Amino acid sequence: MRMSQKKILLAFGAVTTATLLMCSGGRWSRTADRLQPKCPALRPEAKHTNVAFLKTHKTASSTVQNLLFRFAERNNLTVALPTQECGHQFCYPRPFDRQFVHPHTLAPNVVGNHMRYDAVQLRRLMPADTRYVTILREPAAMFESLFSYYNRHCKTFQRVPEGSLDAFLERPWRYYRPRDQGSMYARNTLTFDLGGDKDHPATDAAYARSFAAEVERVFSLVMIAEHFDESLVLLRHILSWDLDDVVYVKLNMRAPGSKRRLTPGLAGKIRAWNWIDAHLYDHFNASLWRRLAALGSACVDREVRLLRAAKERLLAGCFGGQRPLLRLAGQIQNKDLRPWQPSAKVGIMGYDLPANLSSGSSGSTRELCLKLVMAEVQYTRILLRSQSVRYHRNRQAPLPLLSRPLPAASTDRTAATGLPSLSNQAS
Ligand SMILES: *[C@@H]1O[C@H](CO)[C@@H](O)[C@H](O)[C@H]1NC(C)=O
Ligand SMILES: *[C@@H]1O[C@H](CO)[C@@H](O)[C@H](O)[C@H]1NC(C)=O
Ligand SMILES: *[C@@H]1O[C@H](CO)[C@@H](O)[C@H](O)[C@H]1NC(C)=O
Repeated sequence: MRMSQKKILLAFGAVTTATLLMCSGGRWSRTADRLQPKCPALRPEAKHTNVAFLKTHKTASSTVQNLLFRFAERNNLTVALPTQECGHQFCYPRPFDRQFVHPHTLAPNVVGNHMRYDAVQLRRLMPADTRYVTILREPAAMFESLFSYYNRHCKTFQRVPEGSLDAFLERPWRYYRPRDQGSMYARNTLTFDLGGDKDHPATDAAYARSFAAEVERVFSLVMIAEHFDESLVLLRHILSWDLDDVVYVKLNMRAPGSKRRLTPGLAGKIRAWNWIDAHLYDHFNASLWRRLAALGSACVDREVRLLRAAKERLLAGCFGGQRPLLRLAGQIQNKDLRPWQPSAKVGIMGYDLPANLSSGSSGSTRELCLKLVMAEVQYTRILLRSQSVRYHRNRQAPLPLLSRPLPAASTDRTAATGLPSLSNQAS
C-alpha cells in the first residue's frame, strides 16, 4: 500500500517536473522573456489594462472586441467609444481622429471599435504603455466573406454581373475604382484598416515588406483568426491576464449556407489581387508560430485545453446543460442579441438565450451571460450609456478621481466644463 503510494507520488513528481521543464524550455530565449508569465501560468506582474485593439473587418474581431469589453467592465476601465455621429465605428473609413471619441469616454484604457488606424492620433488618445493588438484572417477566405457580406455596400461589387466572385476575379479592374464608395472592402482591406495604401502599385514589392515591418513595430500582437485559441494564449501572456479573462463565444458568423468553398485557383487569384494583405498574413502567421514555439508546444497545448475547459464551465454556469441557441439574426427574440445584417441575402448567425435562463439565475449572472453573446452595436450602446452615467457621477464629486494624468489639455477642459469642446481637440 505505502509502496504503491510512493510510486504514484514519484510518478506524479516526475510528470510534474517534466511538464515544468518542457514548459520552461523557452524561458531563456529572448522571445520567451517577453512572454511572461511562463507556463504553467504564473502571474508575476499586474494585468495590463491599457489595450488598443485595431478591429479589422470579417476576421473574428467582434469576438475579441466582446472579450475586451467584458474585461473593461469587470475592471471598471474606460472604453473609448465613437460619438453618435460616427455610429458604432470611429467614422470609418476616415482615418481615426481623436475628435471621433465621445467625450464621456475620454482618458480611455481600452479602444476596440472599428477604425482606420492612424498612429499619431491613436497614440495621442491612449496611455504611453498601451499594448497594441490586431487580428488578421487568411486573405482568400476573408475576401470571399467581404464579397458576400458587403455585396450591397460596395460599388465595385455591385457592378459585377450576378454578384459572381469568379467574374470579378477574372477582370477586377473592370469593376474596381480605387475611390469608389466602399472600395476599401474590395482590395487589401487589412492593409487599409491598418492605415496602409491599399492601391500601392504591385510593382513595388518592397512596400509590403516595409509595411509589415511597421505593423510589427507598433503591435505587440497580431492575432490570426485561423489559429484563434493559440492567439488568445499569446494575448493572455502579453497582457498577464487570467485564462478566464479570455473566454469567449464566437460572434457574428455567417450561416453555412452563405459561405462558399474556394478552389485553389480562385484562392490564388484573390491573393494576387490582395497582394499586400497576403504578404501581411504570411508574415504574421509565421511570427505567431515562432512565438508559440518559443512558449513551448506543451505549454500552448495545455493552455488551449484549459481555455476550452474554462469556456465549457462558463457556458454551463450561464446556460445550464444547454447552449446559447445559435439562430439566424432575424429569428432572434432578444433585440440586444440580434447582430446587424448587411442585407437580406446574407445569413448572419447570433444567439438567443435558453428560455429558462432568467428564472434560475441571479441578475448579475444573467447580465454576464447576456454580454457574452451580445452583438457589437448593442454592447457599444450599453457601454456608452453606463460610462456616461459614471462620467456625470464623477463630475459631481468634489475632486475628480483620475487614476492617471489626462492626455491633453482638451480633455482637461472637457472634464472641467462637462461640455465636449470638439474645436479644441484637433491639433
Ligand atoms: C468597480 O466599481 C464598483 C462600484 O464602484 C466596485 O464595487 C468594484 O469593486 C470595482 N471593481 C474593481 C475591480 O475595481
Ligand atoms: C500558419 O503557419 C503554420 C506554421 O507554419 C501553418 O502550419 C499553418 O497552416 C498556417 N496557417 C494558415 C491558415 O495558413
Ligand atoms: C433549463 O431547462 C433545461 C431543460 O429544459 C434543463 O436541462 C436546464 O438545467 C435548465 N437550466 C437552468 C439554468 O435552469
